[in-house]
Formats: sequence, C-alpha cells, structure tokens
Amino acid sequence: MNSWAPTPAKRAAPAGRRPKFLLLLLALGVGVVLFGMHMITLFSGSADALGGLGQWRWGSSTSRPPGFLQHDMTDEELLWRASFVPQVKEYYPFWRVPKIAFMFLSRGPLPLRPLWDRFFTGHEGLYTIYVHSQHPHYWADYPPSSPFYGRQVPSQVTEWGEITLCDAERRLLANALLDISNEWFVLLSDSCIPLFSFNYIYNYLRRTNLSYVQVYDLPGKDGRGRYSPGMAPEVDIARWRKGSQWFEVQRDIAVAIVADVKFYPKFREFCKPDCYPDEHYLPTMLSMEVPHLLANRSITWVDWTRRPASHPGTFGMAEVNETFLRRIKKMKTCHYSNQSSSPCFLFARKFTPSSLQALLQLAPKVLGFG
Ligand SMILES: *[C@@H]1O[C@H](CO)[C@@H](O)[C@H](O)[C@H]1NC(C)=O
Ligand SMILES: *[C@@H]1O[C@H](CO)[C@@H](O)[C@H](O)[C@H]1NC(C)=O
Ligand SMILES: *[C@@H]1O[C@H](CO)[C@@H](O)[C@H](O)[C@H]1NC(C)=O
Ligand SMILES: *[C@@H]1O[C@H](CO)[C@@H](O)[C@H](O)[C@H]1NC(C)=O
Repeated sequence: MNSWAPTPAKRAAPAGRRPKFLLLLLALGVGVVLFGMHMITLFSGSADALGGLGQWRWGSSTSRPPGFLQHDMTDEELLWRASFVPQVKEYYPFWRVPKIAFMFLSRGPLPLRPLWDRFFTGHEGLYTIYVHSQHPHYWADYPPSSPFYGRQVPSQVTEWGEITLCDAERRLLANALLDISNEWFVLLSDSCIPLFSFNYIYNYLRRTNLSYVQVYDLPGKDGRGRYSPGMAPEVDIARWRKGSQWFEVQRDIAVAIVADVKFYPKFREFCKPDCYPDEHYLPTMLSMEVPHLLANRSITWVDWTRRPASHPGTFGMAEVNETFLRRIKKMKTCHYSNQSSSPCFLFARKFTPSSLQALLQLAPKVLGFG
C-alpha cells in the first residue's frame, strides 16, 4: 500500500498551491483507509462462509459456550456449507474421536429429557445433541447442568405430514455435519427413549457400516398410491419406496441428503397432502442412490399393531414395566452384521410424559444406565 503513497509529495510544490495539495493528500489517505476496511470485511465475510476450520479444530463441541449453535445462515447457505467433504481421506490433521449426533425433532419441551440426561452422563466427547423446535420462537429452558443446554438449532415452522418436516430433518443434519467429528446421525422424536446404555449403542453403530433407514415397497393407497407421475423421470413408480421417518445414517449418507438437488425439488413440488414426504423422500432417494449402504430397517421400535393403524401405539405410566421393556430389547428378527443374534432396536417410541417416573426407576436395572 505504501507504493500508492502520492509521489507528488517528493516534488516541491509551488508555495501558493500547498493547502490544495494537503487536502488532496488527506482525501487520498481517507480513501486508502476506507478501502482497507472494505477489504477486511470482504475477507472476514468469505472466511466465515467457507470457515469452520476453527470450529473443526475444536472437535468436541460440548466444551463450547451455549449459544454457539446459533448462526444466521439461510437453509440454502447452510446445506451448501454442510455438503463440503474433505478430499484428503487418509487422515485428519487433529485428534478425531467419532461422535454420535443425536438429533431431536421436538414440538416444545422434551418431557423425557431427565431420562436422556442420565443416558448421556459420563460420555462427554462421544456425542453431540441438536434440537429442532417445531416453533422457531420456542426456546426450551434447559438447566445449564443438562447436556441439552444451548443445543437448539435455528428452527423453522414445521408441519407434520408436509415437506417442512423433511426440511427440518435436513436442517438438523446440516447443523450436525458442521461438526466434522460427527460420524453417526440419529433422528429422534420427543417421545423416543434409548433401550440400552450409551456404550452399547456407540459400539453397535461403530461395528456396522450400514445406515439404518427402513425401505419397503407397499402396493395400495398408503404406499404406491401416494406416488405422483409428476415426479418422473427422476422417480418412477417402480422405485417409489416407503419407510419410517426415524433413521440412523452414517456421515457419507448424511452429506448425500443435504447435497441432494435432484430428488428434493420433485418431492417438494409433487408430494403434497396426503403424500407424507417424511415417509417417502429418504427411502426412495437413498434406495436409488446408495442401496448397498442401507440396512433397509429402522433401529427405532414402534408399535403399529394398535387399531386404528394410522397412529402408532403410545405407552404411558400404566403400560411401562420390566417385562414390556425386556420384550422390545430382545427382538431379534432382523439382520445386523449378517448375524441374527443381536438386538434389532436401540431406541423405542412413543412414550408419553406420564411414563417418565417408571422409566427412571427401571433404567438402572433394565436399560443399563441411570
Ligand atoms: C462393510 O464392512 C464389511 C466387513 O466389515 C466389508 O466387507 C464391506 O466391504 C464394507 N462395505 C462397505 C460398503 O464399505
Ligand atoms: C437393502 O436393499 C437393497 C436393495 O434396495 C440391497 O441392495 C441391499 O443389499 C439391502 N441391504 C441389506 C442389508 O440387505
Ligand atoms: C406390562 O406391560 C404390558 C404392555 O404395556 C402389559 O400387557 C402387561 O400386562 C404388563 N405386565 C405387568 C406385570 O404389569
Ligand atoms: C451372510 O451369511 C450367509 C449365511 O450365513 C453367508 O452365505 C453370506 O456369505 C454372508 N454374507 C456376508 C456378506 O458375509
């Protein structure tokens, strides 16, 4: 910048013109300062958009102050930024301990939070929590001692059965992807409970390279009947799939979901009520793009045997007991690492707030924590 300094200064200016010359010098100086300030904002701005290196280096985000999850990125900016993948696959230039991202879709407070608090106790550094609220202006008042403190992501209005629910899932994934240590991404609701201890779940996910997304083909009104021909050619009816909303995916798949610009616009436009995009978007897209990486089943247990079948069974104080919990934990009619001797489900729903006391009481003996 020194080279920009006005060379006329070296020449002796005629005495009468000196004030004018000084003014010019002053104007130039101000110009240089303004230009410098502009460059600084420009560069810090783009560093922020591309940034995250500082954030990545932190690795464990639990040690950071609450509120750091706040940002003012639009969904478009957030999904774009979250889709970045390192090209060096051989190593990480820092100590990386893979973590589970627990992503909660909540309507308001999390009534079963005290159970989850106990589940997470002692496992700091191996997990991160993200909470998406159905109402963007709802802020839960979690105590600073809770691992949920400060873990709400910027949220948008979410309507069950509409595309905004898929938007919320992608928003949660994108926020969680910003932490490069997150390796497994579990979507949970405010009525979900863990069926095993943290260590058990961590090892279960670590030992498989499959993603737990339920995928099936259902003829009739609640399956293929929801397909719209407008989705062709990206999706044709023969490849239309259904599955549970509650998934667990590995990092590569999470990136594929936030980076999807091929299928998402079709679902947004054509999967209108009563289509339920949350039951079709991921099963259809992932079974077309990465079928070999899917387990085709969910790891979250739910009871569809109740009538009417449009709503899954709910369990409250009267229904929760040791026999019942042990029965879900023991279900083994599924495949895990090509063995059918391991349990099928790591999580279960739907548990009402009234079940909390019974669950807290049974947890040490039946669930293995607390
Ligand atoms: C998954 O793991 C198994 C053995 O652990 C391996 O043979 C297989 O190639 C892996 N699959 C992928 C897609 O990485
Ligand atoms: C899941 O289904 C796909 C076909 O859509 C198949 O390629 C894949 O092997 C299945 N996964 C398992 C674990 O069987
Ligand atoms: C335990 O709960 C199940 C299902 O909620 C119920 O059918 C069963 O009768 C209960 N058992 C006892 C001993 O209360
Ligand atoms: C899974 O087990 C079956 C029989 O037990 C075996 O034939 C098959 O090769 C196994 N698959 C893998 C991927 O190990």
